[in-house]
Amino acid sequence: MKREDIDRIIAELGELKCRTLKEVEEARVRFLGKKGEVTALFDEFHDVSKEMKKEFGRSLNELKKTVQAKIDELRSSVEVEEASAGSGTDLTMPGDEFGLGSRHPVSIVRQEIVEIFRKFGYDVAEGPEIEDDYHVFEALNFPDNHPARDMQDTFFVSTGHPNPLLLRTHTSSVQVRTMEKMDVPIRVVCPGRVFRNEAISARAHCIFHQIEGLYIDEGVTFADLRQAILLFAREMFGPETEIRMRPSYFPFTEPSAEVDVSCNICHGKGCNICKGTGWLEILGCGMVDPNVLEASGIDSKKYSGFAFGMGLERIAMLKWRVNDLRHYFENDLRFLKEFEAAPEV
Ligand code: DAH
Repeated sequence: MKREDIDRIIAELGELKCRTLKEVEEARVRFLGKKGEVTALFDEFHDVSKEMKKEFGRSLNELKKTVQAKIDELRSSVEVEEASAGSGTDLTMPGDEFGLGSRHPVSIVRQEIVEIFRKFGYDVAEGPEIEDDYHVFEALNFPDNHPARDMQDTFFVSTGHPNPLLLRTHTSSVQVRTMEKMDVPIRVVCPGRVFRNEAISARAHCIFHQIEGLYIDEGVTFADLRQAILLFAREMFGPETEIRMRPSYFPFTEPSAEVDVSCNICHGKGCNICKGTGWLEILGCGMVDPNVLEASGIDSKKYSGFAFGMGLERIAMLKWRVNDLRHYFENDLRFLKEFEAAPEV
């Protein structure tokens, strides 16, 4: 056994190339098989003189490790090549990126509104989506023959029952549940999903979201309502925003109003978003009707309050100038990705 034998094998190893797994196996047998070149050197090692055993022993073990490592390396590179040739795929190509989800525009707006009212001291309250007639209509002073109670407008879960279940048509039902549960003073906002039997179009959908507000205490006046809405509008749409209140009617508030904000696109000059009026309608509101307070066990002689309700899709449409409500429900990634960079609230 000679030093040159080891050096020769190392040199051959450097030149070694394999194109198939079969060639890799042949190379392994040639060096490490029972009659392989490295194995043969181990056999010869028995005859090496005692003084040389130490030196040769170490070199031989290293040689064996180097050969094994080289064979392993050749095998894995041939495997990658064979697999990619077989599947027609280049396995060295970088993989597909998994897009990270982002918040839905309606969620962004809901969180923004909740945060604004939280700063004003409001809590968040929630209620069930499947409701009864009492909480959606009766306790809110809807007369028996009110059209909202009609099947045309409301989805009933069970009919022909003396107390039918239905999908809530507005989040005002959470007002009632809150008044039943909480002691006065009450200051809550109630975000949630609502359902109406509407034909789906650019301006209407059968499922949408609202946020309801309710404030009840001693001595609450219409001036407080106006101020709360004004401060909210300025936080939401910018410090220059003005509001205007128009008389309206809701069974559960008296007096009632609809609120417009000054158009933050044309600043009152008139554009196609505000249809030339300079104003955009954002919510309905009013002083809680004494009948509604009494129905939930609140003394209307001692306490008064205001309530308001707005559609989240509508606010989101104004904020981002989206002109078709259906975009919010179709989950088209091209639309959703536009909101990826929306700031965290
Ligand atoms: N519930 C009304 C709707 O769905 C919105 C609303 C109007 C809520 C006036 C209120 C309010 O609390 O005072 O159209």
